[in-house]
Amino acid sequence: MSDKWLSGTVIDNRQWTENLFSLRVQGAPLAFEAGQFVRIALDIDGQRVARAFSFVNPPQDPVLEFYGVIVPEGPLSPRLAKLGAGDSLSIAGNPAGFLTLSEVPDAETLWLIATGTGLAPFLSILRTDEPWRRFRNVVLVHAVRYARELTYQEVIRHTRTRYVTFVSREAAAGSLAGRIPAAIADGRLEQAASLKLAAETSHVMLCGNPQMLKDATAALVARGLRKHRRRASGHITVESFW
Ligand SMILES: Cc1cc2nc3c(=O)[nH]c(=O)nc-3n(C[C@H](O)[C@H](O)[C@H](O)COP(=O)(O)OP(=O)(O)OC[C@H]3O[C@@H](n4cnc5c(N)ncnc54)[C@H](O)[C@@H]3O)c2cc1C
Ligand SMILES: NC(=O)c1ccc[n+]([C@@H]2O[C@H](COP(=O)([O-])OP(=O)(O)OC[C@H]3O[C@@H](n4cnc5c(N)ncnc54)[C@H](OP(=O)(O)O)[C@@H]3O)[C@@H](O)[C@H]2O)c1
Repeated sequence: MSDKWLSGTVIDNRQWTENLFSLRVQGAPLAFEAGQFVRIALDIDGQRVARAFSFVNPPQDPVLEFYGVIVPEGPLSPRLAKLGAGDSLSIAGNPAGFLTLSEVPDAETLWLIATGTGLAPFLSILRTDEPWRRFRNVVLVHAVRYARELTYQEVIRHTRTRYVTFVSREAAAGSLAGRIPAAIADGRLEQAASLKLAAETSHVMLCGNPQMLKDATAALVARGLRKHRRRASGHITVESFW
């Protein structure tokens, strides 16, 4: 990986809940594609501690935005959550990643399916022109533990996406209960989106919890969808956050 680091200054740090935060950062102009990530870092006890974060902002927006969750025992995320306006952080000069629409074949319906902060890359994608030019339908699916974690609703409502939410650890009006893979298998996800989830019509991008990616992929494969590869076109593209 490149050792070139840029310096960014925090503009603000929005606290959505006790665990969720969004950092906006200026001063580190970067060329990237919506859906990609970059390593961000703090120097902790003389050591640079870096972690991958997906861009929330679309590429045309010069202010960088990152959406994080505090993993209490993690070395970096609790410290990022405490940053405030004027604080600095380091940003690697080499954005990367394949969870991008340039890697996705055309389809009638694009399904963007996330758990937790896996929402981040899809916010960037939804704020570009490409999904609206290439897909007749775009569905955003966001699964969280608690309803208060259904963040960025004002951004999502400004797009033309169909928006389906899951809340798994409390009853929440307007959201599905349980988990995404079960709702793929039993048809509840299709019903909520009023669209067919089938190989003939769909491409599915999945992001977030690795076990969700595994279980959801298995549920999609059982319906006849295949992992997408550059050399063998398919219907499923995934990015794991850990
Ligand atoms: C390609 C890529 C993109 C990523 N983009 C984001 C992003 O946009 N926002 C973000 O918050 N994180 C993102 N991550 C995860 C991020 O890099 C860190 O792992 C996370 O911020 C925790 O850092 P940490 O040093 O505190 O703990 P770590 O030592 O990195 O992680 C400790 C444990 O915390 C859990 N964990 C890590 N990340 C998450 C998460 N996002 N949600 C729930 N549990 C988690 C896992 O069990 C992990 O083993 C991404 C990871 C990858 C590989
Ligand atoms: N969210 C919080 O309240 C909270 C509080 C303190 C700390 N944290 C930290 O944040 C991390 C968790 O963050 P998070 O809540 O954003 O992510 P998460 O644990 O991945 O949960 C997000 C959503 O994904 C679902 N999910 C988990 N495993 C799945 C699977 N195999 N298949 C399908 N869906 C699955 C969860 O459902 P289930 O509810 O059924 O698991 C939940 O609806 C923890 O590791 C912890 O360190 C979070």
